[in-house]
Amino acid sequence: MYEIEIERIDHEGRGIGYINGKVTFVKNALLKEVVECEILEEKKNYNIAKIIHYKKISEKRVKPFCSYYEICGGCNLEHMPYDETIQYKEEKVKNILAKEKIDFPEIEIIENPSPTNYRNKLSLKIKNGKIGFFEENTHKLIEIKSCPLAKSCINHCLKNIKKLKIKNGKVTIRANYNEEVLLIIETEEKIHWNRDDFENIKIVGVILNNKIIYGNYYFYERMNGFLFKVSYDAFFQVNPYVTNKMFSKILENIENTNTVLDLYSGVGTLGLLVSSKANKVYSIEIVKNAVLDNLENKKINQKDNIYPILGDTEKTLPKIKDSFDTIIIDPPRKGIDKKTRNILLNRKAKKLIYISCNPLTLARDLKELKNCYKLEKFYILDMFSYTYHVECVCVLKAINPYK
Ligand SMILES: C[S@@+](CC[C@H](N)C(=O)[O-])C[C@H]1O[C@@H](n2cnc3c(N)ncnc32)[C@H](O)[C@@H]1O
Repeated sequence: MYEIEIERIDHEGRGIGYINGKVTFVKNALLKEVVECEILEEKKNYNIAKIIHYKKISEKRVKPFCSYYEICGGCNLEHMPYDETIQYKEEKVKNILAKEKIDFPEIEIIENPSPTNYRNKLSLKIKNGKIGFFEENTHKLIEIKSCPLAKSCINHCLKNIKKLKIKNGKVTIRANYNEEVLLIIETEEKIHWNRDDFENIKIVGVILNNKIIYGNYYFYERMNGFLFKVSYDAFFQVNPYVTNKMFSKILENIENTNTVLDLYSGVGTLGLLVSSKANKVYSIEIVKNAVLDNLENKKINQKDNIYPILGDTEKTLPKIKDSFDTIIIDPPRKGIDKKTRNILLNRKAKKLIYISCNPLTLARDLKELKNCYKLEKFYILDMFSYTYHVECVCVLKAINPYK
C-alpha cells in the first residue's frame, strides 16, 4: 500500500500523485487529498493505482449521485460539486491551449441548465441476458437499471429491454424532444419484439441489424425553431439543452455572408441554422442517411440554398471550386484531417467557426491555423456534464483574407 497526496487533476479527471517519484494516476481523487492506494498497473513511465482508503478528504468532495459511479467509467466527475466540474473543465482547456502556445481571448462558459437527465442517447451492451456497461478497460458487464445522465424516457425504456430476451448483443436507445424513442439493436439472435411490452413509451421505430422491424428508421428533432429529420445512424448532439445554447451562439457570430461551407455536417443542422444569412451553403458529410436527412431537412425548413454532398471531407472538398466566406467545421473527436487543414490554409475564408468535442485535437489544429487565422472568441460548453469531456466553439477571423 502506498500513500500519496494528490497534486493535480489530469485531462481525464484522475488525480495525479507520485510513488517513489513516478507519476501515479488515481480515479475518484480531488486536489490535496491524501490517499492510500494499491498499484493496478505498473508502466515504464507511470502507474495506475486504486484508492483503498482516504486519509485526508477534501472539503469539496460530494457523494456521487449514481450508484454505479465507482465501477461504470462513463462519468468521471460526480465526486465534485457541479461548479467545480466547470472550473476543472475551464482549467483543463486553458492548460491544453497554453501547452500548444495558443493565445486565446477571454473564455465564455456556457453551463448545462440540466446537468442530469440530459442525454438523448444511451448505448448498452448485453451479455448473458444482462444489460449494462462494460467496466472500464474490461469486458466485465456491470448490469444497470438506469443512468442518471439519460433522459427519463430512456430510463423507462431501459427497464423493459429484458423483455426482448436478447442474450448477447448491443442496444442503443435514442430519444427526441417529444420523448419519442428509437430502439437500435444489434444481435445475431432472434428477438422477441412485442409493442405491448413497451406500453407508455413512445417507441417510433425499432431497427434490428440495420433493418426496420417496427415503425420508422428515423424521428424528428426540434431545435432553435427548426425541425430536423434524424435517422437512427445519423449524428445528433447528445445534449439538447446545451445544443440549443450553442446554436444561438453560432448564429450570433455569423454576419450576412455569401457562401458558407459546413464541414462534417451531420443532418445539416448548422448549415440550416445559418442559411438565412447566406446566399449558398455547401455541406459535406460521410454518412449516407445523414445526407439524405439533410436533403429532406432543407425541404421541411423551406431552405433552397443548401447543397448537401455525400463524401469524405478530404476527398470531396478539393472538388468544390467555389470560394467560401464562412467555414463551419464540426469534426469528430480526431479533429480535422491533415489534408483538410492544408486546404483551409490555402483557401482562406473570412471567418471560421470551429466546433470541437476534443480540446486536444482542437489545440493541435489551432496551432496550424494560427498563421492564417486569429482566434477572436472562445466558448466552453458543458455538453457532457459530470464527464471529463468538453465542447468548445471557436470563432476565428482571417488575418489577411485575400492574400
Ligand atoms: C460532431 S458530428 C457534427 C455533426 C453536425 N455538425 C451537427 O451539429 O449535428 C461529426 C460528423 O462528422 C461526420 N464525419 C466523420 N468523418 C467524416 C469525414 N471524413 N468526412 C465527412 N464527414 C465525416 C460524422 O458522421 C458526423 O456526422
